[in-house]
Amino acid sequence: MSDLVRVGLVGVGIIAETHLAVLAQRPEVSLEFTVDPLLDEPPAFRGVKPPHYGILSEALAAHEPDLVVIATPTDTHADLAVQALTLSSARILVEKPLVGRLASLARLRSLEGEADVRSRLFTAHHFAFSPEVDWAAQLIAEHPGWGPVTSVTSAFYDPYILRGEQAFASYVSSWMDSGVNQLSMLSRFVELTEITSGDRRMDDGASSWATFAYRSRGAVGTARLRSSWLTGSSSKETVLAFGGSGVEIWIDHTSMTGFAARGSSLLATHGNDGRTPRKVAHYRPLYESLLSGSPDPVLSFDTAATVTELHSAP
Ligand SMILES: NC(=O)c1ccc[n+]([C@@H]2O[C@H](COP(=O)([O-])OP(=O)(O)OC[C@H]3O[C@@H](n4cnc5c(N)ncnc54)[C@H](O)[C@@H]3O)[C@@H](O)[C@H]2O)c1
Repeated sequence: MSDLVRVGLVGVGIIAETHLAVLAQRPEVSLEFTVDPLLDEPPAFRGVKPPHYGILSEALAAHEPDLVVIATPTDTHADLAVQALTLSSARILVEKPLVGRLASLARLRSLEGEADVRSRLFTAHHFAFSPEVDWAAQLIAEHPGWGPVTSVTSAFYDPYILRGEQAFASYVSSWMDSGVNQLSMLSRFVELTEITSGDRRMDDGASSWATFAYRSRGAVGTARLRSSWLTGSSSKETVLAFGGSGVEIWIDHTSMTGFAARGSSLLATHGNDGRTPRKVAHYRPLYESLLSGSPDPVLSFDTAATVTELHSAP
């Protein structure tokens, strides 16, 4: 991207706070405008309030951003991404999940010839940038002798049930919200191939269970994914087992820590200095990658398409 990055932020809700906090730390970034129909006044960015609009098309008629960030409820992503693709020449970062339905994915794909979708559209698969995920991926790369990952178990809990309908309005369901995080995070470790069983709409959408087949170092394995909003606090953990060598890696996504063990032996550990809030720890490296000359493939439209197809497969 150019030296100066003029950003337009669409949707000024909970996760927008993290985007703004991370963007404010990047000297090349200026906030060109914000858009949110439910907000009269935008938040200050480095002490200055940017121009604010109720509708994205009005903002794009008045500004030429280099990057449009879409941080709105999941059901609005497809429409807003189409507007940003067709009414501007900006790159676009859409919050995860890019879209919740295969029909919306097909709609975005159909714009490829007209709007360079694959070079302009990115998805904020932020969990793939979490420090413990990065640590575990490096550890696995350094130990080919551990063999393939033979099984994965991942459980993501968010205390959203008390938010009631508002949680469903913003995130659709636990599977829509956490399933995409789990699949994009697992893409750092294994090559997911297909859903094999499960019930992705338990507790009226507040919980899910799904199993996926994957490939790892020439072998096939099964990933078991559990998510739920029926909890008093946030808790997210993933266990990767290497059955051939007896090694296990436990990563705790809430505390951003991890360890590897074989039987009674502790093989490696990953701690955290506690200085960086969890979401900032995800979005700081995400923006570093996005604004570099070569964004990480996990942010790409192709990855989002694969994740959407796995996630929404019948
Ligand atoms: N909250 C999180 O921790 C988190 C983390 C990662 C990703 N996300 C994703 O980010 C997205 C937003 O989540 P959130 O928690 O910030 O939701 P939120 O409901 O707090 O905020 C969404 C904001 O978008 C605004 N909005 C709605 N329609 C709009 C439109 N057409 N144009 C402009 N603004 C519009 C709403 O008024 C609201 O202020 C979701 O897709 C979610 O999956 C959230």
